[in-house]
Amino acid sequence: MNVGTLYRLGRRLTEISRIAAVDPGDPQMAAGELGVLADVLTHPGSSVKEITERTGFTQSHVSASVARLRGRGHVETVTDPSDRRRTLVRLTERASTAITRRALRPIDDAVGRAVENSDPRSADRVLAMLEELADRLVADGRGERGEDTVPDGVGRTAIGVARVRAEESRRPDRLFDDPYAEAFVAAAPGAFSEAEERGDLGSLGAAFGFHAVIRTRFFDDYLLAACAGGAGGAGVRQVVLLAAGLDTRAFRLAWPDGVRLFELDLPEVLTFKERVLAERGAVPGCARMVVPADLREDWATGLVEAGFQPAAPTAWLAEGLLIYLSADEAARLLTAVGELSAPDSQLAFERGDVAGSLLSRARATPAMERYASLWKGGLGEEAPDWLVRNGWQVRTHELAALAAPYGRPIRGESRSGFLTAVHRRLDQTEHDSVRWADER
Ligand SMILES: C[S@@+](CC[C@H](N)C(=O)[O-])C[C@H]1O[C@@H](n2cnc3c(N)ncnc32)[C@H](O)[C@@H]1O
Repeated sequence: MNVGTLYRLGRRLTEISRIAAVDPGDPQMAAGELGVLADVLTHPGSSVKEITERTGFTQSHVSASVARLRGRGHVETVTDPSDRRRTLVRLTERASTAITRRALRPIDDAVGRAVENSDPRSADRVLAMLEELADRLVADGRGERGEDTVPDGVGRTAIGVARVRAEESRRPDRLFDDPYAEAFVAAAPGAFSEAEERGDLGSLGAAFGFHAVIRTRFFDDYLLAACAGGAGGAGVRQVVLLAAGLDTRAFRLAWPDGVRLFELDLPEVLTFKERVLAERGAVPGCARMVVPADLREDWATGLVEAGFQPAAPTAWLAEGLLIYLSADEAARLLTAVGELSAPDSQLAFERGDVAGSLLSRARATPAMERYASLWKGGLGEEAPDWLVRNGWQVRTHELAALAAPYGRPIRGESRSGFLTAVHRRLDQTEHDSVRWADER
């Protein structure tokens, strides 16, 4: 192959990726503006002068493009904290989420259309060749944008859970087997403090780990039971994991036919997750859709765009999430869940203490500070009553009562556990009579 052919191939691949990324109603963007946006994407927090130098556009073109992109909500400008005379340009959270969402789309259809008139198997061959080229030429263990994509901040908590799941998966009496948990941890060197690496969090670390193990198994059972149906119910075929993090249930559980599973989390978490799963050649056991979203904002639009059907009953899971939201944010999220829930939809998350004594001990432990500082409490002890008031039939499950039959008894009572709920669309009088407590 000569340089000319390689250049034409590059242009054709760019065209195919644009076809896959663009939606019918999208506004047209001029090539010059697109060039500026692409530069901001790869160099967030640059000045107009820096963008001008890198792109070769005139300064007036860059300034005008930034103004137009800002007007449409694609970029925002902030004052450089180290030099208040400089203005820096970066993507808005909304634009960043939308771009990541599109970047994670499969390209099968677009490639299929590009090779339309030839043997139907050739689209598969082209896809396989593209995968191989990407492996050899661009997969360098870092993100597509060449930056380190190991999640930070609240996203890093997902790596902590993966670590607990990796440890559990090594036990002969494991309650679940997560074949990718170890790979996530290995792909995130430096994610843990020295104290964590040494296992120095003592009984507190063990208590959080224990809770994460029991909850993983409990929510595995909850989701499979929701799909299996029973008591006259048909079983759901739509599953939504809110704040899926590095959860690999799509890959490791034995789903019945027809299950469609949606995973939502912050863009950086899902980008990291997709990279590690692709490197491992992971294949889901159900139809799996990833939806990058900030769950404090409008996430429902992205979910519906990804194919979620509000008219079909859904099994929702918000595992390890609500504590990172304020009470208002949690209530807004759960209100949206209710609005998207057909009758007989189900919902599960944690309740009680891991708020309370465990949390106050963690707050007083310096090595836990980086996690404790992220906790905002969610709905706290109010969650069951809030759900009952909002049309859910709630059942609470106590940690100690669950742990014993799993072969992990704990002494005494625990003040934490989980709740599961069914959406009945009842009127208020009925709600009050359908709350059960501490049953399995
Ligand atoms: C402790 S992890 C639990 C992850 C997963 N559910 C599990 O159990 O493996 C918390 C997750 O919540 C996600 N998260 C926290 N706040 C979020 C937000 N506002 N929008 C989307 N995801 C969020 C984090 O990115 C992280 O993946």
